[in-house]
Amino acid sequence: SETDKGTYPFYMLKEIDEQPNVMRQLASVYLAENGNPVIDPELLEAMQAADRIYIVGAGTSYHAGLVGARLLENLAHVPTEVHVSSEFAYENPILSDNPFFIFLSQSGETADSREVLVNVNNSGYPSLTITNVQNSTLSREATYTLLLHAGPEIAVASTKAYTAQIALEAILAKALGEVEGQIVAQNFDIRQQLGLVATGMQAIIDEKQELEKLSNDYLMDTARAFYIGRGIDYTVSLEAALKLKEISYVQAEGFASGELKHGTIALIEDGTPVIGIITQEKTAGLTRSNLVETKSRGAHIMTIVRQGLAQPDDTIVIPDVEELLTPLLSVVPAQLLAYYTSLNKGLDVDKPRNLAKSVTVE
Ligand code: G6P
Repeated sequence: SETDKGTYPFYMLKEIDEQPNVMRQLASVYLAENGNPVIDPELLEAMQAADRIYIVGAGTSYHAGLVGARLLENLAHVPTEVHVSSEFAYENPILSDNPFFIFLSQSGETADSREVLVNVNNSGYPSLTITNVQNSTLSREATYTLLLHAGPEIAVASTKAYTAQIALEAILAKALGEVEGQIVAQNFDIRQQLGLVATGMQAIIDEKQELEKLSNDYLMDTARAFYIGRGIDYTVSLEAALKLKEISYVQAEGFASGELKHGTIALIEDGTPVIGIITQEKTAGLTRSNLVETKSRGAHIMTIVRQGLAQPDDTIVIPDVEELLTPLLSVVPAQLLAYYTSLNKGLDVDKPRNLAKSVTVE
């Protein structure tokens, strides 16, 4: 059945492996034969009427929101803010005149996010919940719902829900951009791109022994590690670090690579692993320089690089896709590095200490 581990030792590995199929599934549910998005026109109308979009989420869903904001701003040209739900709920930020809220939640049950939705509903603002669970609380209480169709996610550390959220945000951003008449959205071949993403994910998964070896050589015995990047790569570095820390207990942090020199670089010692995520042409050189700065302080540097930007010394090369969609691929090696570090430490990969799959207290 869907919730059977089969031959997998842990659900997390099964769920990582399912990601190419989740991409194909989303394309088949939300794209027509001709590749055009099939999204409820009323939802698009409500979004079109908004002057600003607010994305709200917790944990990995918050990280997927950080990518979603870039997709919405680039493809639909609508100003988008992303907020951690537990912060937003009690801060009463000043909103725009016509806000539209997007709730991201794998489970649809996160209490902090629900608290925000209750306030949104009290104010009469329109909202969309993007969730993996039909009839979940956040789905029932929001104006609109889009389902992730990722199948049940059992491992506490979220993997396929993150990539499903980003892919669906991309489809939504393309659909909204098209109704807004944005050329960039019209030219964005989402169906072709999701196909490339699925194949690319599979190529990374097929090389997983390489990632196990990197984990053994550089992550197993370290107390701390850093992922760094700029822009969209920075947002992925946050998710990559979260994966590593939550299941392997390595103190991992994601950092904006330009910000390291303002403090964090003081933590670099001999052998500290620093992994640079490099997928964006305009910032690739800068992140490479920042990596060299850590190397000259003793760091062991590694890279996750998009093929088109790769150099001979790069560590992990991922296939090329549209720059806006690279998080769908750059996160996969990080998921596998975290998985193998946890596995080979003999930890319970699926049930890390102190954590729950769905957090229904504030
Ligand atoms: C918990 C889970 C995380 C998840 C977060 C938000 O902390 O362990 O994996 O990202 O909740 O959950 P949600 O269901 O709202 O996406």
